[in-house]
Amino acid sequence: MKNRDGFSSKMGVIAAAAGSAIGLGNIWKFPYVTGTNGGSAFIILYLVAVVLVGLPAMLSAFIIGRATHRNAVGALKDLAPGSKWHWVGQMGILGAFLLLAFYSTVGGWTLEYIYASAAGELSGLDTESLKTFNSQFIADSTLSIFWQAIFIIATGWIVFFGVQKGIERYSKILMPMLFVIIIVLDIRALTLDGASKGIEFLFNPDFSKIDRNVILNAMGQAFFSLSVGLGTMVIYGSYIKKSENLGGIASQISVADTLIALLAGVAIFPAVFAYNIDPGAGPGLIFVALPNIFSQMPGGYFFSLIFFILLGVAALTSSISILETLVAYCVEEFKLKRKSAVFTMMSLLVIAGIPCTLSFGPWADHTVFGKTVFDLFDFTVSNLILPLGGLALLVFCGWIMKTETVKNEFTSFGKYGDALFPMFYFLVRFFAPIAMVLVFLNQLGVFAK
Ligand code: PFF
Repeated sequence: MKNRDGFSSKMGVIAAAAGSAIGLGNIWKFPYVTGTNGGSAFIILYLVAVVLVGLPAMLSAFIIGRATHRNAVGALKDLAPGSKWHWVGQMGILGAFLLLAFYSTVGGWTLEYIYASAAGELSGLDTESLKTFNSQFIADSTLSIFWQAIFIIATGWIVFFGVQKGIERYSKILMPMLFVIIIVLDIRALTLDGASKGIEFLFNPDFSKIDRNVILNAMGQAFFSLSVGLGTMVIYGSYIKKSENLGGIASQISVADTLIALLAGVAIFPAVFAYNIDPGAGPGLIFVALPNIFSQMPGGYFFSLIFFILLGVAALTSSISILETLVAYCVEEFKLKRKSAVFTMMSLLVIAGIPCTLSFGPWADHTVFGKTVFDLFDFTVSNLILPLGGLALLVFCGWIMKTETVKNEFTSFGKYGDALFPMFYFLVRFFAPIAMVLVFLNQLGVFAK
């Protein structure tokens, strides 16, 4: 593809795809949805969804991308000419757009917290003052929209000036740094008075908390976190060389992604309980919980600054992948110039992003189906488009693509390839799609007594 540069090395692909997966979904969203869904039992469902549904779907996306070297819409047109399958790709494009609209709200918050950390505004604040700081900032429309726009412009700037060179170079250094700093936070959090309550909340399952919403939320979170269902991983798959082992790459990404989410949970929940924060506080959770830890550890100023910078970078490497999905689509399907595609998308995203940000301020009471615009976009993407897109990728790979073509992409699976293929194919054809359909039917109340 002449409009898309490929990855120079295996490390590059892993770094970029892991950069897409690891983002706000792990550090901001995972802890707060765990909190609002009752804790540990949700985590178990999430882990099951990652292994049995998310990972096979990621692999399916890679296979579809690498077999065709196209974006999701083009790939599905190529593999199933004359059919309606490419609509799955179009749905992913809509999802990517809605996702970036609300993702950038939180990306903007991250930038504000970098600024506030650098200016020392958070230093020494107690829990109540940190809560006030957060609620005042997110309700301040002008300031939040300013940071959101900066976040969108930064994403567009990187996508415009050659994605992979930037992503490859920085992700390789910054992602491991993020990992290290989360471990440091974990150690501090685990030594807080009252830490054990947080750990119990995370790891002592209370199955009475599971209802149908919790099940769908766990599945949605798995797809959100793994970046599967919108076509992003189809594009990244299209960049991966034939000689690479797709199964190995998908597994490594899933393990790293899940580990970061769990470690973020271990950093946050002990603090939540130690400082009497409501675990179900919602989207502001980490922005209140973590600064508490920083303000009570040696070098807190420094750690806070570094942490929010790394969180900002993690958010950017994900938002880049989302924008790249939109831009590659405009360039390849509509023959737009890359520059025009980036500028058009950026402008539309700033417009669509504003109502999401206003949902925490003057539009907090404007609801549709009982949800603010932010929540509505999040629900539509996380609980509908991502899982439906993931399901479609599984069914496509399992039933529509020729077995031979799928198997062909398994050649690089090393010596275990032959043994693993039947297992993968069983998951993709039967287990994962059936499990997902059951979750959807359950959500619709079909099994309700
Ligand atoms: N996986 C990203 C995160 O956890 O923050 C979000 C994301 C990126 C979701 C790209 C979907 C996607 F296609």
